Amino acid sequence: MAIQWFPGHMHLTRKAITERIKDTDVVIELLDARLPGSSANPMLAELTQAKPALKVLNKQDLADPARTELWLAHYNSQPGTRAIGLDASETTPAKRLIAACHELAPHRGGMAKPMRVLICGIPNVGKSTLINTLTGKKAAKTGDEAGITKLEQRITLASDFYLYDTPGVLWPRIIVAKSGYNLAASGAVGRNAFNEEEVALELLDYLKQQYASQLEERYKLENVASMQDEVLLSAIGRKRGALQGGNRVNLQKAAEIVIYDFRAAILGRITLETPGEFGQWMAAGQLVDAERQAKKKKRQPEKA
Ligand code: G4P
Repeated sequence: MAIQWFPGHMHLTRKAITERIKDTDVVIELLDARLPGSSANPMLAELTQAKPALKVLNKQDLADPARTELWLAHYNSQPGTRAIGLDASETTPAKRLIAACHELAPHRGGMAKPMRVLICGIPNVGKSTLINTLTGKKAAKTGDEAGITKLEQRITLASDFYLYDTPGVLWPRIIVAKSGYNLAASGAVGRNAFNEEEVALELLDYLKQQYASQLEERYKLENVASMQDEVLLSAIGRKRGALQGGNRVNLQKAAEIVIYDFRAAILGRITLETPGEFGQWMAAGQLVDAERQAKKKKRQPEKA
């Protein structure tokens, strides 16, 4: 079962971003540093394409530092794009955000041409936490447009620097199954939208190849890379006492343990995708999509 998580009600968000983007100098997209590719929203790229972009790899305290470097280099090599790593331990994030935005839009600044920045991110990337740190007591609420249920928030980070948080929720758009699993593992997808056992098996399949020593250390196991995913999940359940009647492993409980340990970084600092891997998944996903479209067309030939 591939995870699909693209609820409706995106029109409000789309409308709000489309409105705001006209008067925006830089778009900040918050990404989860553990899954930067999967936590990006393709619709955002489409709505904001011409604008300079600052990618913030947030929650970097949970991510593999070497891989965060790879992602930063990946984004920094793209035209009109800068990237920084961040986490909630940073007490004055405004400084770095302001500096990066000025690099991206050097023509803006001063009272006559204040910098106008839009901040976006899918749920759970830490946007509220960051905004709370940024606002402190300086929060300024504006906007009262009809039909918009949540007000647009304007935060004054400096006398010539405005940060806008648009109303609505930017849900992730899952194009490839792997992204769905990574989003579920990270906590970005609602509990009811996925099967924990399936997500844990996918997670273990990746971790046993890329982070075997962390798994072995945490669960006191050996040679995890050679184990089948189901066998590995079962072994973890047994080690952690997730048992049910007849001394059988409770796989649901075992799955919850694995997901919890990943989310809380008890397994260590882990990143579930590299730029190269994510690029391959996307290419494969797009190929499948193109094949599906071609089949559909064949079934419904155009009328002569
Ligand atoms: P959102 O607005 O983008 O939806 O995210 P929010 O700030 O609500 O953060 C989602 C979860 O991520 C929260 O945990 C929050 O504490 C945590 N978080 C935010 N920034 C960071 C960070 O830089 N590092 C780490 N490790 N965690 C971060 P929660 O368990 O859902 O809520 P709570 O128990 O902390 O209130």
